Amino acid sequence: MSIQYNEKRKSFLLMTEKSAYQMKVDEYGFLLHLYYGKRTKASAEFVLQFADRGFSGNPYDVGSDRTYSMDVLPQEFPCRGNGDYRNTSLLVENGDGSTGCDLRYVSHQIHSGKYSLPGMPAVYANTDEADTLEIVLKDKISDIEVTILYGVLPECDVITRSVLVKNMGQDRIYVTKAAAACLDFVTGDFDVISFYGRHAMERNFERTHVGHHTVSIGSRRGISSHHYNPMMILADVETTEDVGSCYAMSLLYSGGFEGTVEKDQANQTRMILGLQSEQLRYPVKPGDIFVVPEVMLSYSREGLNGLSYNLHRCIRKHVCRGRFQFGERPILINSWEASYFDIDGDKLFRLAKDAVELGINMLVMDDGWFGNRDDDNRGLGDWFVNEEKLGMPLCELIDKVNGLGMKFGIWFEPEAVSEDSELYRKHPDWVMAVPGRDPVRARYQLILDFSRKEVVDAVYEQMCDILEHNHIEYIKWDMNRGIYDVYSHTADEQGKVLYDYVLGLYDFLERINTNYPHVLIEGCSGGGGRFDAGMLYYTPQIWCSDNTDAIDRLRIQYGTSFGYPISAVGSHVSASPNHQTGRSTSFDTRGVVAMSGTFGYELDLTKISDTEKDKIREQVECYKKLKPLICEGRYYRLTNPFADETAAWQFVSEDKREVLFNAVQLEIHGNMTPIYVRLKGLEEGAVYREEKTGKLYAAEILTEIGLPLPSGMQEYRHYQMKFVKE
Ligand code: GLA
Repeated sequence: MSIQYNEKRKSFLLMTEKSAYQMKVDEYGFLLHLYYGKRTKASAEFVLQFADRGFSGNPYDVGSDRTYSMDVLPQEFPCRGNGDYRNTSLLVENGDGSTGCDLRYVSHQIHSGKYSLPGMPAVYANTDEADTLEIVLKDKISDIEVTILYGVLPECDVITRSVLVKNMGQDRIYVTKAAAACLDFVTGDFDVISFYGRHAMERNFERTHVGHHTVSIGSRRGISSHHYNPMMILADVETTEDVGSCYAMSLLYSGGFEGTVEKDQANQTRMILGLQSEQLRYPVKPGDIFVVPEVMLSYSREGLNGLSYNLHRCIRKHVCRGRFQFGERPILINSWEASYFDIDGDKLFRLAKDAVELGINMLVMDDGWFGNRDDDNRGLGDWFVNEEKLGMPLCELIDKVNGLGMKFGIWFEPEAVSEDSELYRKHPDWVMAVPGRDPVRARYQLILDFSRKEVVDAVYEQMCDILEHNHIEYIKWDMNRGIYDVYSHTADEQGKVLYDYVLGLYDFLERINTNYPHVLIEGCSGGGGRFDAGMLYYTPQIWCSDNTDAIDRLRIQYGTSFGYPISAVGSHVSASPNHQTGRSTSFDTRGVVAMSGTFGYELDLTKISDTEKDKIREQVECYKKLKPLICEGRYYRLTNPFADETAAWQFVSEDKREVLFNAVQLEIHGNMTPIYVRLKGLEEGAVYREEKTGKLYAAEILTEIGLPLPSGMQEYRHYQMKFVKE
């Protein structure tokens, strides 16, 4: 059992293979945090220090003891209402209009297996892979009962947290802030690492020193967003890729979120991740339960790389589900950058025919096949095939494509609607729009109110109709705007709409997964605008970015790799010059970059030369061979493409026998000096043979001095070398 309770001390110890987590219930019933870090069974109780701090108030029941204050004590689930002025995890509005509560320990339960959450994504595991701790706290005045759920997955070095807020009182209450994860550190000098970005340039790495302030990231967009990712890291200032302590929080939720790191008056650090609070005022009726989305926590002493390894494994093994959980993915050709909206059946068939000859095994028909969708100003919401445009029924096109030995995939954007659509004309009240105000358009489209079941059902039925009558094996699920006008025409309270919207989305996705288990769903939101662990529970891969430029992708994929496994990263080879940046890169460079993902193509095959076609053949063959290593091996970042002149990364099989080294030279200068890249994760003392040249390399030298990269007069030169242990 990975969870222990010490009756005498009233303390809890959670143990993973390499980490430990401690907390205790104190004499007043407060749940105090003691320790999270390197695995140890030693009690950390003495870290609690008490001092009279001016302007830090004291709970009434501590009497005249002015040294006891929630304003400075480390806590598990700090709430507003008992004297803590720092950022808190929970804020409630009571029936009498007062705010706050005072949570004290009631009981706990420990059981094997991992808890699950109703209607929400959550890490899952077999009974022998995880244990659960449930701690019940209560506010005796309002009768609000809070159950903090901890899931311990020893093998992944991950601890999950979620919270259930139950209204046991007589009055309706409102949850106005809720964050399942809080970590308090009584000491330490930290940096916070977060991933900011914008459309077509997602998840840039940023490392900020935590001073006496609150560093805050989040999304008010109703989607997790391109702009900040709901995964953040707290690292010792000294921590590097390979050494040092660091902590990750990754939210399993795809809507608005808020993450903060604060350093307080006593130099203590508090990290919190949870729901976006500005747009939350969730009514909880007597007897009802509000579920706070889950957060995965992980600790690594082996630097950022160790942390990513934990998250990658946990997401691959315990978040992604179904037949496509691991490596089973098609190599696809997508019609978007090949012909945008200008598609028809013959053209698509030709694309498929050219592609199958090159070894590609799926055609994805992107946007433009339905309603009057000839451009992005119309048609969304009308999910019926435009046979006139296709020039044939969809099933005929699919039959022809299948006849080539190729699978067929299709694009949908179920959450959006165009004003120029039958759906909108029939149901104008199904959109999110504030009565009396014009809604904000984005990409000239509006958002359907997925907080309403009848809206979800109607779109679901349209989609099922397509899936029932056509042999579809892949869906690209897109979402091309943020949610601005938060208003549901049927909701009794508007403060619940965004949260219920996300539940509606999850319900839809769950139904598709259950009823069409043979269909692989790729998540997408204008590329990587909803790249989060919540979506990965339903869609095991996500289109990483609308930017397919290989050089920009090096940075986007580098940032993404901190929190998410490579098997989740949708990545394609596209045309050169690139459509988003105008930059030219070689076919090989584009191939090497796209191979560090789910791999596919997104270009007009009629416009490329025979030599380039040969390249595709080679790349497809190569990817098929390398896929197990790429999707299931351990991933290492070898350099930082934001700072170094070379972007380099590596995969190592679990048994360390196979190694794949990849690099792209970012800079070129006259009289280049040699570049050595240090490899990682090799077996000490082993000798590795490079497959193409047969050359032998000693592991120690590769890791201590590095692999010298042959330089040449070529911009963005690529390197891909496979090593096998002798
Ligand atoms: C979004 C996606 C693209 C493509 C277009 C189609 O931008 O990210 O890949 O599917 O929509 O409209």
